[in-house]
Amino acid sequence: GYSLEIAAGQVVALCGPSGSGKSTIIGLLQRFYDPQAGTLMLDGVDIRTLNLRWLRQQIGVVGQEPVLFEGTVAENIGYGREGATEGEIEEAAQQANAHGFIINDLGDGYATQVGLRGGRLSGGQKQRVAIARALVRKPAIMLLDEATSALDNESEKIAALDEIMSKMKRTTITIAHRLSTIRSADKIAVISGGQVVE
Ligand SMILES: Nc1ncnc2c1ncn2[C@@H]1O[C@H](COP(=O)(O)OP(=O)(O)OP(=O)(O)O)[C@@H](O)[C@H]1O
Ligand SMILES: [Mg+2]
Repeated sequence: GYSLEIAAGQVVALCGPSGSGKSTIIGLLQRFYDPQAGTLMLDGVDIRTLNLRWLRQQIGVVGQEPVLFEGTVAENIGYGREGATEGEIEEAAQQANAHGFIINDLGDGYATQVGLRGGRLSGGQKQRVAIARALVRKPAIMLLDEATSALDNESEKIAALDEIMSKMKRTTITIAHRLSTIRSADKIAVISGGQVVE
């Protein structure tokens, strides 16, 4: 019953209760697992027939709990694409609304050490670095799994995702918990019990 068609360039918001199957779709699209029945198609082609490495190169992901690694901000963004130049890293940071705080609020700018698991950055800063890492891939498809904690009043986090979503002119699937994110989508799919119900 999980039937959903997404046109190229569209932003689709998935919403629904916890455990309804929203993150599962993000996993299926990246082929972390395959469906036991039915197919996922990209431009009409069953994704199981596509080269796995190529498929994943088309996709940028920001997970429900973004993970940063010990190292610099630049390294954490550049990690999104092998051989990314300094210019490309900065461009991605700008698109992710991260360039400002990197330059102004972090002691060493792009050379700032983020600490173990990014512990020296705030939640919202971590999320924006993770978004920049996804964007540096210049992905055809963006997958955003908004943290449930965005329900809390973490304003900087909220601003980041909303701004980026509205600027983004690429195919985007966003798992949204906040009305403002959902409202700005081209299409809204309500997931319940593993099905698209509305
Ligand atoms: N690897 C797995 N193997 C078996 N069942 C799983 C697996 N991952 C998730 N599930 C189950 O699939 C259902 C959907 O999980 P999913 O992570 O897609 O929910 P969700 O809609 O993203 O929820 P939340 O809003 O809490 O993030 C849940 O009942 C979950 O227990
Ligand atoms: Mg989830």
